[in-house]
Amino acid sequence: SGDPLVLGIETSCDETGVALVRGNDLLFDAVASSMDEHARYGGIIPEVASRAHLEAMVPTIERSLGEAGVSLDEVDAIAVTAGPGLVGPLTIGVSAAKSLAVALDKPLYGVNHVIGHAAVDQLVHGEFPERVMALVVSGGHSSLLLVDDVATSVTELGSTLDDAAGEAFDKVGRLLGLPYPGGPHIDRLAREGDPTAIRFPRGLTARKDQAEHAYDFSFSGLKTAVARWVETRQDAGEAFSLEDVAASFADAVADVLTAKTIAACQRHGVDTLVVGGGFSANSQLRDMAALRCAEAGIELRIPPIRYCTDNGAMIAALGSAVVRAGVAPSDLGIGVDSSMPL
Ligand code: KG4
Ligand code: ZN
Repeated sequence: SGDPLVLGIETSCDETGVALVRGNDLLFDAVASSMDEHARYGGIIPEVASRAHLEAMVPTIERSLGEAGVSLDEVDAIAVTAGPGLVGPLTIGVSAAKSLAVALDKPLYGVNHVIGHAAVDQLVHGEFPERVMALVVSGGHSSLLLVDDVATSVTELGSTLDDAAGEAFDKVGRLLGLPYPGGPHIDRLAREGDPTAIRFPRGLTARKDQAEHAYDFSFSGLKTAVARWVETRQDAGEAFSLEDVAASFADAVADVLTAKTIAACQRHGVDTLVVGGGFSANSQLRDMAALRCAEAGIELRIPPIRYCTDNGAMIAALGSAVVRAGVAPSDLGIGVDSSMPL
């Protein structure tokens, strides 16, 4: 097609992602991860992630070009995550992107990582309709976005006031003695448990639509409630079902996420919901979203999990949309923004 060939670079956390996209066609997507190095610390160490990005960057670019069968001089534009994320890791990606832009004399587009999590769905399920709602949930973010145009008009309706959904799962995983990251382990246990066994608090639900935090999330109170519930049983030497705790906790998170998201869709007359971010792998969220979207007549779009976790395709997809929308390129003097707003 006549669409520009966009090279996307993602380094906001522990994944070095490089992908090539033309229009909404993904040519290749290469990812290198330093998660194995972080797992033993129980969290991401920014310095370790930065060094891993530095080492993986050129090989990952070369692998993406090689697998896609294109040469560097065919690239029409470079898109890179400028934020939000970890400053050191972001700097490695932005530096690489600037160098390419200068060397190739091609435009540079610094883009927003969170919007990228929504944009990647266009590579899988096609161009977005007029208006979509996007729920971006991961270890780092829980945001509800109203997307009128993924390239130029995205409004954040709400986000987490404290922990992200994945982060809450990881913290509960730690207190239940599960390995890091705890999210997938809780998911697995929860599938064997009774979600109605314990009624954990939902938090921020009773607000009216007009209320300030109508579409914001808060998971730290829920996490504390789980900790207290478990401690009380342990102190009393009482046995309890780990599966029931996991299922009841996961149910509370999925309930709040889906209830608020669907309320926002109805309030804004949106009938397409995109879910992205690594936490969209969560079974309880997937099941509840599928059920409640079907009831509400909302089309649910969730990309395959490899496009939900951090990757280069999401940045190339957003870059492609931005270039096609005719947005002006970024200045070559751009910095990074760890808490970049939309
Ligand atoms: O997007 P992602 O890969 O990394 C960033 O947050 O940047 O998301 C990973 C997060 C972790 O907190 C992980 O525990 C959580 O998503 N997660 C899950 C599941 N798979 C990943 N949480 C619950 N259930 C899962 N199946
Ligand atoms: Zn992410």
